[in-house]
Parts: sequence; structure tokens; C-alpha cells
Amino acid sequence: MKKEILQLLRQNPQPISGEKLSSVLEVSRVTIWKHIKGLIAHRYDIAATAKGYRLVSEPDTPFAWEDPERCERIHHFDSVESTMEVARELARKDCQHLTIVVADQQREGRGRMRRIWHSDQGGLYFTIVLRLPMPPQYIGRINFYASSVLAETLRENYGVKADVKWPNDILVDGKKLCGMLSELEAEGDLVTFLNIGIGINVNNDPCPLEPRAISLKSLLHRPVIRKELLIAFLDRFEKNLELAMSEAVIERWKTYNATLGNSVTVVTHNETIKGNAVDVDLDGALLVELKDGTIKKMIYGDCFH
Ligand code: BTN
Repeated sequence: MKKEILQLLRQNPQPISGEKLSSVLEVSRVTIWKHIKGLIAHRYDIAATAKGYRLVSEPDTPFAWEDPERCERIHHFDSVESTMEVARELARKDCQHLTIVVADQQREGRGRMRRIWHSDQGGLYFTIVLRLPMPPQYIGRINFYASSVLAETLRENYGVKADVKWPNDILVDGKKLCGMLSELEAEGDLVTFLNIGIGINVNNDPCPLEPRAISLKSLLHRPVIRKELLIAFLDRFEKNLELAMSEAVIERWKTYNATLGNSVTVVTHNETIKGNAVDVDLDGALLVELKDGTIKKMIYGDCFH
């Protein structure tokens, strides 16, 4: 109902009466008023005049009703500890494939390698639950698929030259715009669910402790409507998902990559290696040529160019 009321208000710059809304939507005026009140409580500025209701402005919040196609699968929260936790709970309760958990703020946002992901208001923080029965070796490809799709969305919809740093950071001019984290549970040889968490600095000021981070707002010199960015990404992500496990994903990732050809330092929990990033293999591992010419295969880690 909220989605339909909003649609009518957006189509009509002039006030539209409660009577008209109730006859078009075939519900009582009390029901209309209840939903209008709900929208106002969610920060939609709706003027209630003698002539009817008029939408003055609306928040950029990715409420479920803002994406009619995915309405049933989107779980929006004002604030959560981490969308990863909520998504894991839902996945364990058999939520549907491509469930999306999105929050305006995370109190305990998590980054890779047990880091904190500062998640203030203005950023876009979400986790997608994937239920693709697959052997765990395909996980790298799916993550590469997600980061390539995000780079593509940022380039094509927002005109920013987004590159991917191994494994899945999105950089613009060497500064971090987005990070990705994935978690999975498996049973036997097959993955039961894979959750991909994505954090994008959109209208938030990245944490001052991260001087090499940047926001979309500062790149574009204007605020960005987060609900539009989320939908643009999901449209692309879901459209070609059947390709996500194919070898072609790696080639696609390489076209956006900022890592290969660089001299890199890769830090894992138990080692630090330095060398030249020469390639990624079909599982997404980074191949680093060491000083003595040997090739070291890195399956995870933080990569510094
Ligand atoms: C990284 O670069 O270290 C990965 C950052 C991933 C952050 C996202 S925000 C949405 C999801 N929820 C979290 O707690 N983390 C991921």
C-alpha cells in the first residue's frame, strides 16, 4: 500500500485528496490515513492540506517498499549490530535466495580480517543471502562477480572510475570507496548459503582513522540517493547471476582490476609477503612473483599496492 500511495503522490505534483486515493486504491480513507501517517513517521514529508496530500520531499532510505520487485526479500533496519548477523540468522531459518538485509547504521559493522567497519548514517550497508548449491571453490568467483558488478554500476550509473583491488575492495584514485566481506555455511561438499556483505561510503564522511577512504558524495560533489544505488546494483547483480560461477567472471574482474602489474605486499594472519602481482587464478587466488622468481599463491589477505 505504501508503495502504491507513493507512486500516486509522485505522479501528482498537485495535492491529491484522501477520497481520490481511497477510490483508486480501493481501500478506506482510514487505511489511506494510516499509511500516510506511517510514511510521515518514516521521514517522508507529506503535506496534508485542505485539498489533499502532497509529497514535498522523501528520504533516500532503501525501505523495502521502494523496490517493488524485491519488496518481499528486502529487510530494512534503521540500525543493527551488523547486517551480517541478521542475514546469517535469516539464512539459518531458510530465508529465500537473494534475501537482502540493509541498514542505515551498524553498531558493530565488521570488516575483513576482524577489522571494524565504521558504519555511520549516510553509508549503504547491506548483505545479500545467496543460496546456490555449489562447492566452496566457487566462492571466490562469486565474490569477484559481486565486486565487478559494483565497479560496473559505479562506472556506468555514476561515472566514477571505480577499480577493484584484490580481492574485492573498490577504489577510486587509489582510495577505498567500498569493502566486501563474505561468510558461508556448508553441509558436506555443498555450500548451504553464502552471504555477501557490502559497505559503500555514499553520503557519510569516512572515518578519519581511514585517511585512504573516500565517499561517493565527495567524488561527485553532491549527495547520492542510496535507494537508487542499491537498486541499480541489485538489478545488475541479479540479471547475470548464472554467470557468477563461470570462469569468465575472472576475466571480467581483470578488466576493472587495479592490482595486477603492481608491486604488492600481502598480509595474512601469519605472514607478510612482497612481490609482483602477476595474475589471479580461476578460483580468485592472487599469484605473486617473489624476488627469487617463485610464484606464491595467496588465497586471502590484505593487499597493499
Ligand atoms: C572490508 O573491506 O574490510 C569489508 C567491509 C564490509 C562491510 C560490510 S557493511 C555490510 C556488511 N555488514 C558488516 O558488518 N560488514 C559488511
